[in-house]
Amino acid sequence: MNNCKITCVSHYVPEKIVHNDELAEFVDTNNEWIMSRTGIERRHISQGENTSHMAVKVCKEIIAKRGIAPEDIDLIIVATITPDYMTPSVACLCQGEIGAVNAAAFDINAACSGFVYALSTAEKFIKSKVYKNAIVIGADLLSKMLDWTDRSTCVLFGDGAGGVFLEASEDKGYICEDLHANGVKGLALKAGRFPVVNPFAKEPDEGNRFVEMSGREILDFTVKEVPKCINRILDKAGFSFDDIKYIIPHQANLKMVQAIAKKLNLDMSKFYTNIQNYGNTTAASIPIALSEMVEKGIVSLGSKDKILFVGFGGGLTWGSILIEI
Ligand code: ACO
Repeated sequence: MNNCKITCVSHYVPEKIVHNDELAEFVDTNNEWIMSRTGIERRHISQGENTSHMAVKVCKEIIAKRGIAPEDIDLIIVATITPDYMTPSVACLCQGEIGAVNAAAFDINAACSGFVYALSTAEKFIKSKVYKNAIVIGADLLSKMLDWTDRSTCVLFGDGAGGVFLEASEDKGYICEDLHANGVKGLALKAGRFPVVNPFAKEPDEGNRFVEMSGREILDFTVKEVPKCINRILDKAGFSFDDIKYIIPHQANLKMVQAIAKKLNLDMSKFYTNIQNYGNTTAASIPIALSEMVEKGIVSLGSKDKILFVGFGGGLTWGSILIEI
C-alpha cells in the first residue's frame, strides 16, 4: 500500500463559551466591532484544562471510533504553539495517557499552518512505509498566551483541538501539497518569547509570553499568498475548482476568507467556515472544521470527495494539502 488516507476524525473544545458581550465587560470592545471586523460571535475558553487534555480527548475518541488498539498506533504528531511544557511534548503526553506504547511521538510548531505541516510529515512516514498509521492532531490553547487587557488580540482567539487518523491505503487519499515559509516576516506575529536569564546575561530581559501581532501585515500577507498557494496546488494536481467539493481554510478571520474567495473569483459556498463559533483556534481550526463537517453530514469519509486544506499564519508559514476523503 503506497498511499494513505484519513479514516477517522474527531474534535474537542472546552465547555465554557464566551460571547463577545462577555469580553466587553472587561475590555474596551463591543460585539459590533468584533463581528464586523472578524465574523467571530463566540469562542470556547479553557477554565483550567491544558493543551494535552484537549489532545488526549481527541486521541481517545479516534481510538474508540476507529476501533483500534492503542498499541497498534505507530506515530502521534501534535501541531501546537501552546504546549503544556517545552518538554515533554504534547504528543508524548498523549502517547503516555492513551497507552500507545509502540508509537513515536513529537510536536510540530508551524502556528496556524501547523496541522497542514503535521499532516504532510505523517504522510511522508507512511508513504515511505516506515509506519502504517498516525494520529495527527492540531491543538492550541491561545487563551493562556493572551494579554486579556489588549483588545486588539484577546477577542480573536479560542481554544480547541481536532485530529485525524491517517492510515496506509490503496486509494490515493493524500493527493499533493504546497508548503511555504517566510521567516523574514516572522516577527509580524509573535508569542512566548523566553528571556535569556542566566548568571552571564549582559542585559536584564523579562521576555514576553503574550501574543503580539501586526494585524494589517498578516492580513496583507494572507490575501497575497493564499490564493496563489491554492492555484498552485490545483495546477500540481491538474484539477479545477469544480473538482473540489470544499476548501477548508484556517479560520483566522471571516473577512480574510471572503477576501481570498474574491481574489479567486469563487463563491463563499466553496469555503467551509465556522469561525463564528470558535474564533481562531490556531493549529486546531482545520481539523475541527473537518470533524464538524463529518459530524454534520456535510461531507463523509469514504465518499471520495476532494477537499483542499489551506493553513496560514505565524512563522510566517502557509501551505495547502489536497485530499480525497
Ligand atoms: N474592539 C474595538 N476596537 C478595536 C478592537 C476591538 N477588539 N481592536 C482594535 N480596535 C481599534 C484599534 O484600536 C483602532 O482604533 P484607532 O483607529 O482609534 O487606533 C481601530 O480599531 C482599527 O484597528 P486596526 O488594528 O487597524 O483594525 P483592522 O481593521 O486592521 O482589524 C484585525 C484588526 C481584525 C486584527 C485585522 O487586522 C485582521 O484580521 N488581521 C488579520 C490578523 C489575524 O486574524 N490574526 C490572527 C492570528 S494570525 C493567523 O491566524 C493568520
